[in-house]
Amino acid sequence: MRCCHADFALVEGSDRGFTVGMPTFTFGPGVLAEAGDNARDLGMTRVGLFTDTRLVSGEHVAKVRASLAAAGVDVAVYDAVKIEPDDASFQDAARFAAGGRFDGYVSVGGGSVMDTCKVANLYAEHPADFMAYVNAPIGEGRRVPGAVRPHIACPTTSGTGSETTGIAIFTLRSINAKTGIISRRLIPSIALVDPDVTRSLPGAAVAATGFDCMSHALESITARAYPRRLNPAKGVLRPVSQGANPFSDMLATKALELVGAFLERAVRDASDTEARTEMMYAAMLAGIAFNAAGCHLPHGLSYAVSGLTKNWHVPGYPEGASLVPHGMAVVLNNPSVWRHTAPASPERHLHCAHCLGADVRGAGPEFAGEALATRVIAMMRATGMPNGLNALGFDESHVDALATGAEPQYRVIRNAPVDIGRDELKRLFRSALRYW
Ligand SMILES: NC(=O)c1ccc[n+]([C@@H]2O[C@H](COP(=O)([O-])OP(=O)(O)OC[C@H]3O[C@@H](n4cnc5c(N)ncnc54)[C@H](O)[C@@H]3O)[C@@H](O)[C@H]2O)c1
Ligand SMILES: [Fe+2]
Repeated sequence: MRCCHADFALVEGSDRGFTVGMPTFTFGPGVLAEAGDNARDLGMTRVGLFTDTRLVSGEHVAKVRASLAAAGVDVAVYDAVKIEPDDASFQDAARFAAGGRFDGYVSVGGGSVMDTCKVANLYAEHPADFMAYVNAPIGEGRRVPGAVRPHIACPTTSGTGSETTGIAIFTLRSINAKTGIISRRLIPSIALVDPDVTRSLPGAAVAATGFDCMSHALESITARAYPRRLNPAKGVLRPVSQGANPFSDMLATKALELVGAFLERAVRDASDTEARTEMMYAAMLAGIAFNAAGCHLPHGLSYAVSGLTKNWHVPGYPEGASLVPHGMAVVLNNPSVWRHTAPASPERHLHCAHCLGADVRGAGPEFAGEALATRVIAMMRATGMPNGLNALGFDESHVDALATGAEPQYRVIRNAPVDIGRDELKRLFRSALRYW
């Protein structure tokens, strides 16, 4: 990527600009203790505090509650957030918010918690049938009609970047597929990003969430460039995620350098403060990047994988029902995707491989996909990721069902740098079955 702007030349009818949304953020060890002052500053007097059953009795929630109490802010706690939320859990949270007479919200948790809080805030403020704001064509895709209440997001995982995005993801049970609600209005007002929180995160969760972050950055850089979208009728109607742009390139590049240097260390050693801090920073940068650029194939394909896996359990995640952590489902498709998409933008794929730490000196464009896939596979092996979809129980006989499962994801799949139909989806899943 010698001159990134050359990739963004405008063509007749293309969008002339790109819009980046993000919250005010504070990054640093101990900043959770600033929650109370920030809440007061935003005019909050009574907040709904969202978290999950594992975190509710832990030190991070305690720190935020103490800070809110010291600032004289009244708090009601909702800890019934479902890990990997669905439409029922979102609606349950929305009922809590609607009945709470809150003038603001605080979320303390991973993507599951922050997304649930965004949606509860939305439906409490602008009540509607649940499918009204859900992405079209699955839902109505109605625009959020106005501002929501202020929201202070405190991430406790280093991956989703949800503290910076206007995105909330859930499984719609009727079709067993993930979809979301997306609006700039859902971007939290303030993100308090405190890297100390990840000391308590189990290695398996650092790995899964770290690969989510990595994939956000890779997908931002390799997404279709924003001028390939048609000009919106009005700038304010520009979608949240518009394709690769120079700003997301810059943030995603830095995020990849950090993931390449620190992910393996952060997974291995919870006391490696430097590595865990840098992963937290990378997740935030990649969140801002992909919110503006959008994800594409690895996320689109992951939703079929998480929906169709029957019996999978990972330490550090809730016991009981089968669950594939989001970042794990995403990384399992990565090498297969990069081998396929590299011919569309070899320089960008080589750039990504280089940022992640691969030696690409002398590599020609024809090796771009392999260079990136090889580096990602090495990182997967070093962090205990499963060896492709085969390890989760999939084989050739499931490829058709996986392709069908990915089809509702055309909103994100269309953001890929190459056109993808059903045959390509099957080819991508087939080559993600086994990597080593
Ligand atoms: N909104 C977005 O922009 C966005 C982006 C990517 C993913 N997502 C969504 O986010 C969800 C995944 O979120 P996630 O990966 O952050 O994990 P998570 O919120 O699902 O949490 C995973 C597990 O880690 C535990 N945990 C969280 N923080 C901890 C800590 N500091 N110490 C110990 N345990 C901790 C949780 O209790 C839970 O058991 C998925 O639903 C995914 O689709 C949203
Ligand atoms: Fe993600």
